[in-house]
Amino acid sequence: MKDYLKVDGLVKNYGDFCAVDGISFTVREGEIFGLLGPNGAGKSTTMNVISSLIEPTKGNVSIDGMDIVREREKARRVIGVVPQDLALYPFLTAEENVKFFASLYGLKGKALSLAAGEALEFVGLSDRARVRPKKMSGGMKRRLNIACGIAHHPKLIIMDEPTVGVDAQSREHILGSIKTLRERGATVIYTSHYMNEVEDICDRIAIIDRGKFVACGTEEELISTVSDSKALKISTEFRAGFPVSELIGELSRLPDVKNARADENTIILEVGNTCKDFTLYLEHITKRGLPICGLTSESMNLEDIFIALTGRELR
Ligand SMILES: Nc1ncnc2c1ncn2[C@@H]1O[C@H](COP(=O)(O)OP(=O)(O)OP(=O)(O)O)[C@@H](O)[C@H]1O
Ligand SMILES: [Mg+2]
Repeated sequence: MKDYLKVDGLVKNYGDFCAVDGISFTVREGEIFGLLGPNGAGKSTTMNVISSLIEPTKGNVSIDGMDIVREREKARRVIGVVPQDLALYPFLTAEENVKFFASLYGLKGKALSLAAGEALEFVGLSDRARVRPKKMSGGMKRRLNIACGIAHHPKLIIMDEPTVGVDAQSREHILGSIKTLRERGATVIYTSHYMNEVEDICDRIAIIDRGKFVACGTEEELISTVSDSKALKISTEFRAGFPVSELIGELSRLPDVKNARADENTIILEVGNTCKDFTLYLEHITKRGLPICGLTSESMNLEDIFIALTGRELR
């Protein structure tokens, strides 16, 4: 997969305040890339530079090889922007709003109507096509905001917190739609405060904090930068007189096990991050005549990773 978006040494100052302080990353063609960080980290500033809404103070950004400062108009043609602050015209209907934004990219006539209809369908607003945003709920406006950004079939979709205030059902719908956009070949760069969303849809994630780059990779890669193991908890029932420490000793010598211990009726195995097959451990326990009453595998989530890398909570 080729690199579609390149951000290289990006700096953005507002007066003497540095909002983005030398961030570099690349987004590959056809992936969903998440930008994660707490309030004020510089996510929207980065997204606004990529969208060429504001100019970088220093550094380079290119989209499909086009420099967003020197080749701004050309680069703009391939992007679709879903901004964090809603950008809708209150006195145009939903359909007119979508058509207005899509027409800026040269769509006209039948193609424009088709694209608008498809985008509204995409966000589940087909039945509200003639409703004006001022008569819509917050979540509906969010969905319309997305429709306006994607109707013209952009190759790079820049989504800044697209699901804020959207109910769970619509969020599922939107997340499914974003995956569909990827299947159709779009590249997506995405920010969200919802960890589970980022875990669910992003192929790779960059973590930024206070304008600085912290880490980047798949969730697994990020986990392995802070910890090389996960806890496997196996519930059982030890009979009276069962040689627990002998079993623990045996388990600790099995492949991939870094540590083994028992806590009442739970056996806790610390195993390598890459270990996915637990059969060997379970078989060993059942051969000793013990039941398996439950099994959980606890690896770090994005929130844990963020705390480990920055010493701060994400929210
Ligand atoms: N136009 C501006 N003028 C001055 N400072 C700004 C401007 N826009 C943003 N900032 C500051 O830059 C920093 C980064 O803001 P930005 O909006 O990029 O953060 P963010 O990561 O998107 O946060 P959030 O999660 O709250 O959306 C913040 O400290 C913010 O106050
Ligand atoms: Mg923001």
